[in-house]
Amino acid sequence: MPEASDNERLRRYWDKHARSYDRQMRFFDRTLFGESRSWVCSRATGDVLEVAIGTGLNLPLYPPGVRLTGIEWSPEMLALARRRARMLGQTADLREADAQALPFPDASFDSVVSTLSLCAIPDDRRAVAEMSRVLRPGGRLLLLDHVASSARAVRALQWLVERITVAVGGEHLLRRPLQLVQSEGLEIEQQNRFKLGIVERVSARKPAS
Ligand SMILES: C[S@@+](CC[C@H](N)C(=O)[O-])C[C@H]1O[C@@H](n2cnc3c(N)ncnc32)[C@H](O)[C@@H]1O
Repeated sequence: MPEASDNERLRRYWDKHARSYDRQMRFFDRTLFGESRSWVCSRATGDVLEVAIGTGLNLPLYPPGVRLTGIEWSPEMLALARRRARMLGQTADLREADAQALPFPDASFDSVVSTLSLCAIPDDRRAVAEMSRVLRPGGRLLLLDHVASSARAVRALQWLVERITVAVGGEHLLRRPLQLVQSEGLEIEQQNRFKLGIVERVSARKPAS
């Protein structure tokens, strides 16, 4: 588990960047992630938990009828997500919480969604373990993230850039959530990797015990 002071510093980083987040993300959504947010959200069913919901950019993309809970540790990001939910007339239980210690009992959700967050959560292994814990048997874990490229030259560049991004805002470029999902024993249903292997989306099932 990371030091509490590191967590606090990163939380404050996201508070500080909350107002400019949507503007920055528009560029990356257009150039890198395309329709992947919709790919992820459209597969969610039933009781859904979105982990590290940020400003709630995924809110309009969920199918009607899902019962959405979202957690986020930055109060400023969360405030914007709540405002977006209100503007969309959407009922969602949005709470301040840490993805590394989810405040829910085991087997609480049918689907757990996380987009572009495992690159930013300090202990990504712990976060994936928590996502798996709160999934019901047979439930679905849905992830989208930027990951270590499949091209060696790009990975070398990512390594260089990561020296700065981790130090400044805890942003990792060389992670691979898929491997954590597999080591939790979840079954991969679908997985696509594109844009030089930098973008990966995953749909995985928790075995029905
Ligand atoms: C790049 S943003 C992604 C936001 C949103 N998921 C999206 O797709 O736009 C990363 C988010 O992860 C949140 N975050 C990072 N570590 C967290 C943690 N341990 N618990 C909860 N939220 C966390 C940050 O506050 C930030 O809102």
